[in-house]
Amino acid sequence: MNVLITGGAGFIGQYLTRSLLKAGCSVRILDSFHPQIHGENGDLPVDLKSQVGLIRADVRDRDALLRAVAGVDTVVHLAAETGTGQSMYEIERYFSVNVQGTATLLDVLQNEPSANSVRSIILASSRAIYGEGAYHCEQHGVVYPDSRSQENMAAGILEPHCPICSASLQMLDTDETAPFKPMSMYGLTKQVQEQGVLLFANMKGINGFALRYQNVYGAGQSLKNPYTGILAVFSNLARQGQTIEIYEDGLESRDFVYVSDVVEATMSAIKYPGSFVGALNVGSGEAVSVVQVAEQVNQYFGGHSTIRVTGAFRVGDIRHNRASLQAANKVLGFVPSVSFPSGLKMFLEWAETQPLEDKRAYQNSVDELSARSLMGQVTKI
Ligand SMILES: NC(=O)c1ccc[n+]([C@@H]2O[C@H](COP(=O)([O-])OP(=O)(O)OC[C@H]3O[C@@H](n4cnc5c(N)ncnc54)[C@H](O)[C@@H]3O)[C@@H](O)[C@H]2O)c1
Repeated sequence: MNVLITGGAGFIGQYLTRSLLKAGCSVRILDSFHPQIHGENGDLPVDLKSQVGLIRADVRDRDALLRAVAGVDTVVHLAAETGTGQSMYEIERYFSVNVQGTATLLDVLQNEPSANSVRSIILASSRAIYGEGAYHCEQHGVVYPDSRSQENMAAGILEPHCPICSASLQMLDTDETAPFKPMSMYGLTKQVQEQGVLLFANMKGINGFALRYQNVYGAGQSLKNPYTGILAVFSNLARQGQTIEIYEDGLESRDFVYVSDVVEATMSAIKYPGSFVGALNVGSGEAVSVVQVAEQVNQYFGGHSTIRVTGAFRVGDIRHNRASLQAANKVLGFVPSVSFPSGLKMFLEWAETQPLEDKRAYQNSVDELSARSLMGQVTKI
């Protein structure tokens, strides 16, 4: 197979590239080497560089895309701006890269004869399209709460409530029938990407997969990008024995999925033998609280950090998240194989071999949110 990966030099992209090469596929990567992720003068690791066709370009560059799609049968579209908090003020940039970039890609696939060979398009979508996701209300059954109000959060009401009767709720596994309810600009751009890709695949009669990745982590993830990745932030602080500050009350949770599981699901979509157009969750099916993550990271590095629950919160963050994996299992046979403790160990063993990152970069990212009133403070927990 001939596969084009946009954003293939990134965290998930490099893993996927290795997996495709191992399976005997030919891989072309289009990537701009965004300095926020790669630092200045980013490049592919030497072993990969010699085995792939690399186009160093922006995903909005039509001419570069034209060269990139020629003769390709599968496109995996990963190139994106990925910071939830940052998306709330760098709105134009997020829409330009994520929405315009996808539009240019689809336009090239539709109109350029060199792209006629494309039979499948796979998009890295995100759980961010769900917002708070699915909950159970005693009176109203399955509900999809609205975004938590800043007023409530400041008053210490951190759990989402029933949108109909305001009663307390129990979190459910969110499946793909949940409505689009993004609570960040990033999530909204992912929704548009997803709808565009699936509409296009239907129109062309080709395969289209919107893989809704949950919180992906693993050895090799960017430690430089202060806008994403709590594991990167926590491990950097724990290694230096510095205080780990936790938002809200620390009980907010995420579905952390190890990168090799994400690649496994993506490979199954690439190799899918039948016809399919639709969205599938890719996660671990488990929710882990942020305070648990901080404790485990701190413990690994000798427990020298203090963990401080600050009650600060970010506008656009969701409270909990746990994906239903039934559809991905049915369609792709996907079963995650890496538990959080073993994935975390692999990540930390790698992270401790990496240079320490300057803590100020993370603090600057928080200051940027504060300066735009995108941070709040719980006054009573
Ligand atoms: N990592 C996660 O937790 C997660 C969760 C859900 C969805 N996703 C999605 O998966 C995809 C890959 O994520 P990742 O974690 O590997 O991120 P990453 O930041 O490591 O990789 C993204 C790659 O895209 C490139 N890129 C950014 N802007 C570009 C542009 N304008 N033109 C060309 N290339 C550009 C970057 O240089 C980078 O190599 C993204 O679409 C992201 O939204 C990731």
